[in-house]
Amino acid sequence: METKTEAVNTTVRVGPIRMANPIMTASGTFGSGREYAQFFDLGALGAVVAKTVTLHPRPGNPPPRVCETQGGMLNSIGLQNEGIEHFLREEMPFLRTLPVPVLASIAGHALDEYVRLAERLAGTGLAGIELNLSCPNVEGGRLFCGDPDRAYQLVEKVRRSTTLPLVAKLGPESASIMEDVARACEAAGADALSLVNTFPAMSLDVRRRRSRLGTMTGGLSGPAIKPIAIRMVWEISRIVKIPIIGMGGIMTAEDALEFILAGATAIAVGTASFANPLAIPEIIEGIKSFLNEEGIQSLDELRGRLNI
Ligand SMILES: Cc1cc2nc3c(=O)[nH]c(=O)nc-3n(C[C@H](O)[C@H](O)[C@H](O)COP(=O)(O)O)c2cc1C
Repeated sequence: METKTEAVNTTVRVGPIRMANPIMTASGTFGSGREYAQFFDLGALGAVVAKTVTLHPRPGNPPPRVCETQGGMLNSIGLQNEGIEHFLREEMPFLRTLPVPVLASIAGHALDEYVRLAERLAGTGLAGIELNLSCPNVEGGRLFCGDPDRAYQLVEKVRRSTTLPLVAKLGPESASIMEDVARACEAAGADALSLVNTFPAMSLDVRRRRSRLGTMTGGLSGPAIKPIAIRMVWEISRIVKIPIIGMGGIMTAEDALEFILAGATAIAVGTASFANPLAIPEIIEGIKSFLNEEGIQSLDELRGRLNI
């Protein structure tokens, strides 16, 4: 017999991508999902976003690469990955077995690298591509999300090189720059925006007089950034028509619902999965319970419906 919690409609559409529920994995925090398959059925996910891949292998930054902070964590992984050919050979066969939409995430130092990556991903069974325009931990990683003209050129060129849905992932810039970059990505043909990447930040060990990371600075994620990320989703959702995938410190169903109320269509969970590998299925169940309790038929009734 169908239980009441199963009856609620949690489906969402991120541009052309249909998802059974709004929960995605945040790039770089879930690998390709293999390790998490021992904790829960990955078919429960709304969608998977794989770790960012680059054209050539990258060794990443010197250790230590992560440290805990109050209400969050700092990382400076530096886009360590084995490169696109390894991804296609070793990760895609597993990712293709998942019964949910899978997006690759790509990054490059130059526009041309994004184009080549997008072309290489054609016909591989992906539901879409996330363009990482915003890694704070690599030199030049913020080149595209801090400049509307560059962001436009990049999305436009990639748009012309693939028919796959494109999600542009932005980093935390000042409000006016983010607004211009978001508009530029939309005008250039992005199907959706991901908001937001980690915040450039620093943590110091005063006794050793050293940074707690091998690189001096890193990217802050987790609950510490949540209120800022929600403000960004709210502001950007008022100026673009394309859907927004909100992320930043989502630990619980209520956190996820806050982003949806602020205007996000879907949400991604990152740091929470490190603290609790079952965070994602718990968030999905929590959303269903909330909809039931509140008598809400679908997330459309909640999205952006802030009482002002
Ligand atoms: C260890 C770690 C690695 C990350 N790697 C990537 C990455 O490869 N590509 C990317 O777009 N974002 C990456 N991110 C950023 C997350 O996808 C997400 O935008 C950010 O962590 C905010 O969400 P959260 O607070 O739920 O973690 C990484 C974050 C962490 C903590």
